[in-house]
Amino acid sequence: MKFDKPAGENPIDQLKVVSQPHDRIDGPQKTTGTAHYAYEWHEQAPNAAYGYVVGSAIAKGRIAAIETDAAKNAPGVLTVITASNAGALGKGDKNTATLLGGPTIEHYHQAVALVVAETFEQARAAASLVQVTYRRDPGAYSLSDAKPTVKAPPEDTPDKNTGDFEAAFSAAAVTLDATYTTPDQSHMAMEPHASMAVWEGDKVTVWTSNQMIDWCRSDLAKTLKIAPENVRILSPYIGGGFGGKLFLRSDALLAALAARAVKRPVKVMLPRPAIPNNTTHRPATIQHIRIGTDAAGKITAIAHDSWSGNLPGGTPETAVQQTELLYAGANRHTGLRLATLDLPEGNAMRAPGEAPGLMALEIAIDELAEKAGIDPVEFRILNDTQVDPANPERFFSRRQLVECLRTGAEQFGWKDRNPTPGQVQDGRWRVGIGVAAGFRNNLLEKSAARVHLDADGKVTVETDMTDIGTGSYTILAQTAAEMMGVPLEKVAVHLGDSSFPVSAGSGGQWGANTSTAGVYAACIKLREAVAAKLGFDPNQAQFSDGKIISGSRSANIAEAAASGPLSAEDSIEFGDLAKQYQQSTFAGHFVEVGVDSATGEVRVRRMLAVCAAGRILNPKTARSQVIGAMTMGLGAALMEELAVDTRLGYFVNHDMAGYEVPVHADVPEQKVIFLEDTDPISSPMKAKGVGELGLCGVGAAIANAVYNATGVRVRDYPITLDKLL
Ligand code: MOS
Repeated sequence: MKFDKPAGENPIDQLKVVSQPHDRIDGPQKTTGTAHYAYEWHEQAPNAAYGYVVGSAIAKGRIAAIETDAAKNAPGVLTVITASNAGALGKGDKNTATLLGGPTIEHYHQAVALVVAETFEQARAAASLVQVTYRRDPGAYSLSDAKPTVKAPPEDTPDKNTGDFEAAFSAAAVTLDATYTTPDQSHMAMEPHASMAVWEGDKVTVWTSNQMIDWCRSDLAKTLKIAPENVRILSPYIGGGFGGKLFLRSDALLAALAARAVKRPVKVMLPRPAIPNNTTHRPATIQHIRIGTDAAGKITAIAHDSWSGNLPGGTPETAVQQTELLYAGANRHTGLRLATLDLPEGNAMRAPGEAPGLMALEIAIDELAEKAGIDPVEFRILNDTQVDPANPERFFSRRQLVECLRTGAEQFGWKDRNPTPGQVQDGRWRVGIGVAAGFRNNLLEKSAARVHLDADGKVTVETDMTDIGTGSYTILAQTAAEMMGVPLEKVAVHLGDSSFPVSAGSGGQWGANTSTAGVYAACIKLREAVAAKLGFDPNQAQFSDGKIISGSRSANIAEAAASGPLSAEDSIEFGDLAKQYQQSTFAGHFVEVGVDSATGEVRVRRMLAVCAAGRILNPKTARSQVIGAMTMGLGAALMEELAVDTRLGYFVNHDMAGYEVPVHADVPEQKVIFLEDTDPISSPMKAKGVGELGLCGVGAAIANAVYNATGVRVRDYPITLDKLL
């Protein structure tokens, strides 16, 4: 189905099942341990061997010698895989560094060997016997050192200029010129990267933990130099991804290589301390922001430049994305600069671009509002735009930033805030309130699904979509139930299998809207098939209570499958509408903090997010997405930082003891309000994404609250107590 004109009224609009706060249909399996994660497919491979990854102990250079005999002779060891015996490997499209390194080493903890043994413990013990002699090359590991050397933008991300920024900025009545930094961050998904591979002849099946089944299949096939038809990927349950599992990683490749070598199933898990350096991370940024307003506080000039680093061939963190669209202003400049760094690969982490970009921009807006003498909520409203500021012909499909801010201010008690910093005391705590705007684009990707109807009236959905903890199973079931007019209990959903139709996958917060729209498209076809079988006109028929109904005639839809299941498959594809309108999601984030007067310790007291994110398909799972994201934003503001060893080139705190994330006690009160935002431009579902929006802006709202509490403006994240004293 091609989606190229605004959605009219359709069966989803009944909202009998969709938009209802249903519990997760996969909740019972997950809470009883019967949902199998990647490392848990014991019954499928009782004779599995175990692989243990040896990571490089240098960041850049070469392996001069690798001695594996001692490991091979250790108890239980079956083989040791290295680049020299793994056979010729290709390279996937999505990986920057090679997943099995050697002799060239591109980053610290790049896999250089996999020890395969009867048990995990034997593999781990033998891994310590692999002797690698390295020849270390000098590398670049400091973004701030590399920054002055980067003058031009990367070829495929040129600067964007509208009007004359420099002239308008020098003529502005009020100006802000400030630099902000965000650190490298790690996804820290609860479930580590893990895979199990089984070969049958020239076909390999890999149970893994991956957000994007089709990318994984295609990149594994390319790396193994085999046909994609010979690769099957299964990832039905995922314990969090956050962008860290968008791509094929070393666990899946090494499991496949090892299983081929030892001719039996092999499991490979990346232990927690291996993950931050072996896999990807959100790259650190240095962001330079200049904004000028006229005497009335209207932005006349806005510029945002962001520096980040990556391995050769890597991409920049697109931290200026939101600055192109969030506020009005005739004269604009955005630019990305990319330094070559020999740190592990930088890549997408939840809301790549906007998450770190708004951490900087929304402090800058707070600073500028104060300079202009305007309340920060009112300042943002004053500078709202309903069109793409660089292309005024192009409207947002819907844009309720103003409503988000107004509703939030009202609900949070903003009018009682003391605008003068450092004035409100509660015992030993200094108390402050902060606000920030949230923004994340609504991305659209093709998504396909297959649906079946059986003789019991049961509907089964199959798509290679994943559920990374987001609630995909539930909203896809809700969609099929609404479309086919059956109760939710009559729908089964099967996900995360490359033998199913290719979905948009879980990334960029596009999954909910696009994968449900794919199921919508398949269900339209299934409705037609049911109607044809039972002699109804599909354009007149309604589907309700397990029946197809037209006028006074009705029949059980199950009868259509009496002589065998009915199946239909289709996809949603997005046409010109996506180009005609700018599609984005918006939020207002409000935070109250207390800062200990003596120690500088920051405690968040209250958080509120007001979101405009299209039709909300399930308010319960959507709320869970947003409060999870708000919690992640709290981590970004106050705790999270991969500490770089700039001499040796690695992340020092590469485990959960040293890389701090928030716990329940850090988050006393979170409220989420969804505005009515049904958007006929986004898809037949009229939905958008919300999973990343919840993170966008939170960090700055906390930083602004800390400033309001203390009068100390911290521009370098995370806001640890040493920066407040
Ligand atoms: Mo998201 S960072 O595209 O999983």
